[in-house]
Amino acid sequence: MGRAKGHGSAQLLFLVGESIMLNFTFHNTTRIHFGSDQIAKIKAEIPADAKVLMLYGGGSIKSNGVYQQVADALSDHTWFEFSGIEPNPSYDTLMKSLELIKAHDIDYLLAVGGGSVADGTKFVAAAACYQGEEPWDILAKGGKVEKALPLGVVLTLPATGSEMNANSVVTRGKDKLPFNSPKVRPAFAVLDPKVTLSLSDRQISNGVVDAFVHVIEQYLTYPVNAKVQDRFAEGLLQTLVEEGPKLLNSETKNDLDTRANVMWSATMALNGLIGSGVPQDWATHMIGHELTGSHGIDHARTLSIVLPAVMKIQKTQKRAKLLQYAERVWQITDGDDDSRIERAIAHTENFFSQMQVPVRLSEVNLGESDIDTLVEKLTQHGMLKLGEHGDITPEVSRKILQTAL
Ligand code: NZQ
Ligand code: ZN
Repeated sequence: MGRAKGHGSAQLLFLVGESIMLNFTFHNTTRIHFGSDQIAKIKAEIPADAKVLMLYGGGSIKSNGVYQQVADALSDHTWFEFSGIEPNPSYDTLMKSLELIKAHDIDYLLAVGGGSVADGTKFVAAAACYQGEEPWDILAKGGKVEKALPLGVVLTLPATGSEMNANSVVTRGKDKLPFNSPKVRPAFAVLDPKVTLSLSDRQISNGVVDAFVHVIEQYLTYPVNAKVQDRFAEGLLQTLVEEGPKLLNSETKNDLDTRANVMWSATMALNGLIGSGVPQDWATHMIGHELTGSHGIDHARTLSIVLPAVMKIQKTQKRAKLLQYAERVWQITDGDDDSRIERAIAHTENFFSQMQVPVRLSEVNLGESDIDTLVEKLTQHGMLKLGEHGDITPEVSRKILQTAL
């Protein structure tokens, strides 16, 4: 690995003894149906005698024909529907679906939408079977998910990876909190790139950037000689850099191959594969959740603001990986180490700007006076030791936010 070669002692401190791939167990049970006209496959995926609740968002699926495709596929099933799941799904909205589940003895959930609908459905699946005091405890107090209703996903927005992972994020007031349980991993997911044609530029940008940052948070830590994970991660980053901007260009935006590559990248970015056996750093996401919780900023746009600042503040800890990232993702091979790192960070910011997302708090009208509350919220939510070394304390998060001004 040549670890710490040529670097200062701070570098040594962070890298010595940390260069071995971590043990891991990898198991992903979600069956993927990828490609055009795959929605029909849900007919065979959901048991014929199941009582199905289809959950969706604000109605995009009605105008782009996805609702009709799902209805056709479910024509032999008994099914009901629950609509109105918002972006950053709200706890209160999701809780309303429980009445329907009880009244109709629902035993299978089908999420049709983006990450918010998938996440919301995962929460409902767990909440419907939760024995503790109130389902909010699953998010706020780590309440254990012993059981959950089975669920499938028809994905309409490539971004979160929720369709093939066990994570969910739910919002209540200004609190936006994640939970994770293997019980809520979708049994199957349908990924038809054609259904993404109705997405706005804003949602396309958000999706590409969210997926990019997911890869970064499992890659840009310190080297553990995980060559497969690193090269998969670099391949995904390069694909997103190559393909993402094409979806904002009027001449190439409707190309289904490009959409397919972005869609599969987003799923692969957060389905557990590239994160197996490597250290991870979810600081950007956790700080980002506070920006969404307190100020309603789109998830991906919080990440594009926070990530460059994390790279700058954690430059020493991430030095070896930043150099690898500079060389393998951005082909930066000349100049001294510091200048390579600076240029890699600048390339990242330029990519985000090219994807039309903000890279500074000032671009979303936030300033110094907003930072105290954000740091308080992080503290209140127990985000006291973020990062791959657990060294991002609330005070370091403050520096990160100040750097993002
Ligand atoms: O509600 P509808 O009408 O469907 O409209 C949605 C929504 O307004 C629209 N949309 C979705 N598919 C469309 C479409 N519009 C036209 N055509 C289509 N095909 O897009 C808007 C945003 O949808 P949303 O589901 O909120 O977006 P996204 O997929 O980016 O999900 C964001 C949520 O996922 C969480 C985020 O925190 C946020 O709450 N995340 C979940 C993760 C996970 N489960 O692993 C990881 C992520 O880091 C993230 O935290
Ligand atoms: Zn994300």
